[in-house]
Amino acid sequence: AATTRYEAETSPAVCTGTIDSNWTGFSGSGFCNGDNGTGGYAQFTVNASAAGTATLKVRFANGTTTARPANILVNGTTAATVSFEGTGAWNTWATKTLTVPLRAGSNTVRLGPTTSAGLPNVDYLDV
Ligand code: GCU
Ligand code: CA
Repeated sequence: AATTRYEAETSPAVCTGTIDSNWTGFSGSGFCNGDNGTGGYAQFTVNASAAGTATLKVRFANGTTTARPANILVNGTTAATVSFEGTGAWNTWATKTLTVPLRAGSNTVRLGPTTSAGLPNVDYLDV
């Protein structure tokens, strides 16, 4: 099936932080710079035509040398974890591939950081 891109800066996505555009290379009009803490999440609302396992790609940048791990919560339940290692610079973007269960219709997919550093900058989710 075709890929749908969900930009982190576009409603109904939620970014508990700021939508920034000061680093180059992002898609759309900006990216989610989450608050640096475990409360600084990015959430996407994803539509699935049928229930089943889906492959998600998250584009991110982490200009530090320390990974910023996160839980991937689907409809409120942790379905995967992701490490979000340093990408070398804030304007160097990388993609992580995740496999999660989705239900038919609307789903929330939240990237919930598990350390006080919070999330990397998050550009989009491809489903
Ligand atoms: C810098 C950078 C931000 C980034 C932040 C962080 O302030 O400019 O884009 O989000 O570091 O460490 O999270
Ligand atoms: Ca940040």
